[in-house]
Amino acid sequence: MTFLNSVELGAKGQRTLPAAAYCDATVFSQEQSAIFESRWVVAGVAAELAGPGAFMVKQIGKESILVVRDETGTIRAHFNHCRHRGTELCSEASGQLRRTIQCPYHAWTYGLDGKLVGVPDEDQMEDFCRADFGLHSAVCHEWDGLIWVNLNPQPEDFTNFIAPLVGKFTPWNLPQLVKLGERNYDVAANWKLIVQNYSECYHCAVIHPGLVRLSPPKSGGNDLVEGPFLGGFMDVTEPGGSLTCSGRACGAPVGDLTGDHSQRVYYYVLFPNVLLSLHHDYVMVHTLWPLAPDRTKIECVWLFHESSRDQAQWNPEEGIAFWDQTNREDWDICERTQRGVSSSRYEPGPYSNREAMAAAFDRYYLRIMQSPK
Ligand code: FES
Ligand SMILES: [Fe+2]
Repeated sequence: MTFLNSVELGAKGQRTLPAAAYCDATVFSQEQSAIFESRWVVAGVAAELAGPGAFMVKQIGKESILVVRDETGTIRAHFNHCRHRGTELCSEASGQLRRTIQCPYHAWTYGLDGKLVGVPDEDQMEDFCRADFGLHSAVCHEWDGLIWVNLNPQPEDFTNFIAPLVGKFTPWNLPQLVKLGERNYDVAANWKLIVQNYSECYHCAVIHPGLVRLSPPKSGGNDLVEGPFLGGFMDVTEPGGSLTCSGRACGAPVGDLTGDHSQRVYYYVLFPNVLLSLHHDYVMVHTLWPLAPDRTKIECVWLFHESSRDQAQWNPEEGIAFWDQTNREDWDICERTQRGVSSSRYEPGPYSNREAMAAAFDRYYLRIMQSPK
């Protein structure tokens, strides 16, 4: 595997995006349809849906999607409305269903797989066939512990889409990890400012004094440098250390991480809405949910090896608290950037070579927006 430092990659003289990309309601609406409603996005981590009936509701673009694990263990993604008169089915953000999904209006009842299984006074329905009125569904794949959903009626083939990542995260054992922490953030900044911020460490010495004590901001390199998946690694200075409040590992190794893997943190952007941070003792997953041009909901979960629950030996809270603090430092500067790019005098500024991956993200974003699916 070849890793190239961002300075070696270069920003190719690129400038930042125009103000409309961050502030314009029309651009926002185009993104919702061209990206979030048309491409593979991650709804969440599979560890959040522990068993049959566990569900989460996600706003993907303009659509409310009910993501639920069915009786066979398969994760399904249904459009969250009833086929009778269109009423919203689940109003909670997450929870546990029994064996069925029942509409709160006239009690039509669906199986977890989306089939219509019960209609009160069905004999009063004329020319009616239940099979015609199952829930509308979207394609859904549980892959390496992540739940991928695509609302496009003609979705890009998932196998082709995911091919560059196959095997890449295997050492971190993602499907077996358990969620031991979560934080939700409501950030007054465009979602792309958050991805750009995640994609460079030019800001780290200024914004993250705690982080740079543990991980040299100019260290590391990138192996995914163009396209929907971008990123690479940075070093951890302390032998066996990790990004935690104490600098020591806070959980059991998440997998068989030997050699370089145990002395690095890997950071990947999975376009459009995932920031995946792989430490040897935990994995942090951010999912981004654009709410408005200047507002993004960020869900952050921390995944650990099951044995990290052993409080005598491990303290997962040390990793969670470290990143909660670091996250807030990032969100604060992203909000300040949002306020700045809203100025009538803002104009695209030049990227440093140290921001090569942010520039690569912008290139891919522009490519997608210019050739919507
Ligand atoms: S709208 Fe759902 S049962 Fe009537
Ligand atoms: Fe940061």
